[in-house]
Amino acid sequence: MITIKDKTFVPFISAEAIQTRIQELAEQINQEYADKQPLIVVVLNGAFLFAADLSKHLTIPCEITFIRVASYTATESSGQLKQILGLNESIEGRDLIVVEDIVDTGLTLYEVCDQLQAKGPSSLTIATLLFKPAALKKQLDLHYVGFEIENRFVLGYGLDYDGLGRNTPDILVLQ
Ligand code: XMP
Ligand code: MG
Repeated sequence: MITIKDKTFVPFISAEAIQTRIQELAEQINQEYADKQPLIVVVLNGAFLFAADLSKHLTIPCEITFIRVASYTATESSGQLKQILGLNESIEGRDLIVVEDIVDTGLTLYEVCDQLQAKGPSSLTIATLLFKPAALKKQLDLHYVGFEIENRFVLGYGLDYDGLGRNTPDILVLQ
């Protein structure tokens, strides 16, 4: 159990279960990308531990790069848009695997993938550690999903509450 500020979080997914599942996902990626050399695009900050553990089990040759997604308001009417920061390499003709911590509404990843697709990659798949199907608002093709979870706020293993709690080996859920 962890208390951060006013919120209490209780155990949800153990470190062992996370590591076992990540190994399974990596084996699937190793098979499906056996004849490719993918570019792993890690969405910071939340996916940093997932990406680190996943990549340790990848036996295919791959490159790993890191992006951040910043929200900005272009005009009053269009509301929040997402800007990709940190992608310095060309992704044209590359096989991308976008690595994310959690797909909740899916709005963030939908926009990110849209912008990545516009740069002409040869293929794009998504690997997310967590997925909340009940919260999804945009149609997203999720190729690699660690765990489908209920629509509750989770923390740990990269995921934060107000900047805190990313540094746990397991995942906790808001009580
Ligand atoms: P969506 O899919 O709604 O998610 O665009 C955007 C980002 O919100 C964060 N997020 C969470 N972070 N616990 C967290 O610590 C959660 O339950 C949670 N749900 C969403 C996450 O950074 C995701 O990329
Ligand atoms: Mg995230």
